Amino acid sequence: MRLLIAHATVVVSGTKIAAEIGTGRSEVWRLVQQLRDLGVDIAGHPSTGYSLKSMPDLLLPDMLAAQLHSTIFGKHIHHYYKIGSTNTVAMEAASAGAPEGSVFLAEQQTAGRGRGANPWHSARSVGIYCSAILRPALPPSDVLVLSLAAGLAVHSAVREIDSRVVPDLKWPNDVLIGGKKFCGILTEMNAEVTRVRYVVVGIGINVNQSGFPADLQTTATSLRLATGTEWSRVELCAALLKSLDREYRNLVEHSDAAPSILRRFQERSSSVRGQQVQVEENGGFEGVTEGLDGRGFLQIRTSQGTRTVLSGTVRVK
Ligand code: BTN
Repeated sequence: MRLLIAHATVVVSGTKIAAEIGTGRSEVWRLVQQLRDLGVDIAGHPSTGYSLKSMPDLLLPDMLAAQLHSTIFGKHIHHYYKIGSTNTVAMEAASAGAPEGSVFLAEQQTAGRGRGANPWHSARSVGIYCSAILRPALPPSDVLVLSLAAGLAVHSAVREIDSRVVPDLKWPNDVLIGGKKFCGILTEMNAEVTRVRYVVVGIGINVNQSGFPADLQTTATSLRLATGTEWSRVELCAALLKSLDREYRNLVEHSDAAPSILRRFQERSSSVRGQQVQVEENGGFEGVTEGLDGRGFLQIRTSQGTRTVLSGTVRVK
C-alpha cells in the first residue's frame, strides 16, 4: 500500500514492487488480490503493473502520522486490516510495556467489544475502530472523567468536520445523533488501588455504514446515514486523535481540569439532567437525571431519594 500510494499517479511494475518488498512477482500478485478482497481499488496485472484507481480511505499510519506529529499519538500507530478487537490488542501491548500514545486501528474487527460484554458491530472499512494506550498519573477514581473527556473529543472532532452535526452525549460513553447511537467508548484499565498502570480508551465510530443488521436498526446510526454524505475516515480519525490529545493533556497537566470536563459534558448532553430514565443496576430503578457528581457519576432522583449510578445501563424513557 505504501508503494502504491507513493506512486499514486503511475503504474508500478510488479517487478519493482517485488524488488522493493523483497519478494517475487507471484507473491505481489497474491498480496494485491488480498488488498482487493479488503476493498482496495487496484487496477492492473502482473505483466503490466499496478496502480491505485482511487485513493483508499484506509486508516494507514502513513496517512495519519503527518497530521499527528504535535500530539502524543503520532509515533506508534499500528494498523490492522482484520483483528479480533483493537482494545484486546492494546491491553496486551500495554501490559508488555508499549508506550503511552500507542494507537491501534483496524479496518475490521471480528470480535469488537462494547461495554457490559456486548459485541460491537465492526464491518470492514466503514467505521473507525481505534484504541489508544494512556498512562496517566491519576488514581483509578479519576478514570471515569478521562472516559467522559473521550466523549467530548469525539463530539468536537465531528463538529470540526461538519459543524451542522450536533452530537448528543449520553452518560457515560455513548454519542448519539437524533436519538440513535453512532459512537461507543470502552475504557479499560489496569490499576493498583491508588495508581493507574495503564488505560486503554477504545472508540468505535459508525462513519459510512449505509445500514445495520436488523437487531441494531432502531438504535444505531452512522454519520453517513445522519448527514447523507460519505465521510473521510482518515480526516475524522486525525481530528479525533488531535482532540483526544488536547483533552488528555488538559486533564493530566491541570489539577483543576475535571470540573470543566464535567461542565462541558453536561452542556453537550440532553439526557444528563431532567430526563426520566430506567437504570439497569441493583435490580433496576427509575428516576429523573440530576446531573453528574464531582467524580462524573450520574445522579438520579428517585422516589427513595437521590441515587448514584455507578456502572449500570441507563435507558432514556
Ligand atoms: C459501547 O458502546 O458499548 C462501547 C463500544 C466500543 C467499541 C470500540 S471499537 C474499538 C475498540 N475495540 C473494541 O473491541 N471495542 C472498542
